[in-house]
Amino acid sequence: MKIVVIGGTGLIGRQLVPLLQQRGHEVLAASPNTGVNTLTGEGLAAALAGAQVVVDVANSPSFEDAAVLDFFRTSGRNLLAAEAQAGVRHHVALSVVGTGRLQESGYFRAKQAQEDLIEAAGVPYTLVQATQFLEFLGGIAQSAGAGDEIRLSPAFIQPISSDEVAAMLAEVALGAPRNGRVEIAGPERFRLAELVQRYLDLKQDGRRVVADPHALYFGAPLDDATLVPAGAARQGRITFAQWMAR
Ligand SMILES: NC(=O)c1ccc[n+]([C@@H]2O[C@H](COP(=O)([O-])OP(=O)(O)OC[C@H]3O[C@@H](n4cnc5c(N)ncnc54)[C@H](OP(=O)(O)O)[C@@H]3O)[C@@H](O)[C@H]2O)c1
Repeated sequence: MKIVVIGGTGLIGRQLVPLLQQRGHEVLAASPNTGVNTLTGEGLAAALAGAQVVVDVANSPSFEDAAVLDFFRTSGRNLLAAEAQAGVRHHVALSVVGTGRLQESGYFRAKQAQEDLIEAAGVPYTLVQATQFLEFLGGIAQSAGAGDEIRLSPAFIQPISSDEVAAMLAEVALGAPRNGRVEIAGPERFRLAELVQRYLDLKQDGRRVVADPHALYFGAPLDDATLVPAGAARQGRITFAQWMAR
């Protein structure tokens, strides 16, 4: 069948596309770089013609509050309208575990807007909420500010390797729509401040991480339950040590 991967050139998209191709499907990696823009609508109708499944793993180029909200709202509306027109039978989207608990953050308000649009659109869907990618640990350190000493919450985090996210998304995309959420997470739970310190040490980055329960995560406060799955999540197998050893 024809599957369109929106954001097919990104970190998750470029790992997902070959997995679906190996299963014998016709896969279109759609992104501004390949002439498909969900924000402006450019190339969208042509890309979706004949598609049965759409997997949306796009991300906003800007995390600034207004820009990211506009990205997920406008892209979501354009994409879901084009899918309804094309008769798409399954919309799969990648969101983040705890999005509803992170609403003080502009980024997560935008992800919530994306989820709300999908639930209301009437296209059969599966929302996959993943925990933080191991590949994102450097980004988390970066978000905590400049300087030799950064402050991060000691709340729990259960990060997952991006290749396992892609593999689980491929399975979901080839299965029946759940019309609900699936949570996916890594195999180990850490305290965020400690894990980022271990990551920086292994990278021989001299920054020191101070554990501060009041430190905000992309603008939102954290407690031990915010970033980890609430119930039974599908778990990856790749540990932090295995991932670092690569
Ligand atoms: N980072 C995490 O820890 C984490 C955890 C859970 C869930 N997620 C979610 O995972 C998703 C994918 O993240 P990622 O890190 O793989 O993203 P990424 O590497 O930043 O890739 C973003 C993709 O979106 C595309 N894109 C940008 N603007 C677009 C537009 N106007 N129309 C269509 N496509 C557009 C980009 O295309 P070009 O290459 O052409 O620019 C690129 O393919 C995001 O929705 C994020 O919320 C992230």
